[in-house]
Amino acid sequence: MLKIENLDAYYGDLQAVRGAHLEVHQGEIVALLGANAAGKSTIVRAISGLIDRVDGQISFKNKSLNEYTAHQRVEMGIVQVPEGRQLFPFLTVKENLEMGAYTKRARAQKNENIERVFKLFPRLKEREKQLASTMSGGEQQMCAIGRGLMAMPEIIILDEPTLGLAPLLVKQIFEIVEELRDMGMTVLLIEQNVRQTLKIADRAYMLSNGKIVTEGKAEELLNSEKVKESYLGI
Ligand SMILES: Nc1ncnc2c1ncn2[C@@H]1O[C@H](COP(=O)(O)OP(=O)(O)OP(=O)(O)O)[C@@H](O)[C@H]1O
Ligand SMILES: [Mg+2]
Repeated sequence: MLKIENLDAYYGDLQAVRGAHLEVHQGEIVALLGANAAGKSTIVRAISGLIDRVDGQISFKNKSLNEYTAHQRVEMGIVQVPEGRQLFPFLTVKENLEMGAYTKRARAQKNENIERVFKLFPRLKEREKQLASTMSGGEQQMCAIGRGLMAMPEIIILDEPTLGLAPLLVKQIFEIVEELRDMGMTVLLIEQNVRQTLKIADRAYMLSNGKIVTEGKAEELLNSEKVKESYLGI
């Protein structure tokens, strides 16, 4: 569904991603793991069309994305939930959700989709009139995922959705990710929480200094000595 080949990405003269490759098949949860500054969010932004200087190929359903603007990519069904949630702080929960339905395709089904999001996140329904800035971290993350869903993704890219959340909430977010897959969505999950991510993912890629250094089935990586040593502290 999504295929990245030989991707280089730059900020001015700084090269943040080097020859990266990655593939996500329909219906999978694929994880992209790596330490701070590895280049994870840069890959996300490159997929979304938000990096000025990229070389290499990114394609979606066999169509090269190079010619498409960021907005057109969302319209095609490639939706990212950015790191740090990026909600509109002075809008209510419901208004934030509505902002997610800005594509032509999504606008037409806004009301139905809000109901779907409220079903998935009853907490958001309870707090629909609350200002986003006054929600707890976990609630804000739910709102950010909900806003992403309002754009009707075929693939949803979650950039560190569990960042800064307490263990119980981390667990809830991972359960929601599995639920999204069960609903038929394809998920690219960016995480630093290696063990828990490998438990729910189908496949994973490990990024280090802008390069993919390890990849494979999540289950195999969870048992691999190299991964245990480097990432799981065993
Ligand atoms: N807008 C920018 N301008 C210049 N350099 C940037 C910019 N954004 C990121 N970088 C640099 O690119 C490299 C990769 O950053 P990136 O945000 O992709 O890492 P990351 O893996 O998402 O890290 P984190 O887990 O901390 O979010 C870093 O060295 C970072 O300083
Ligand atoms: Mg990041």
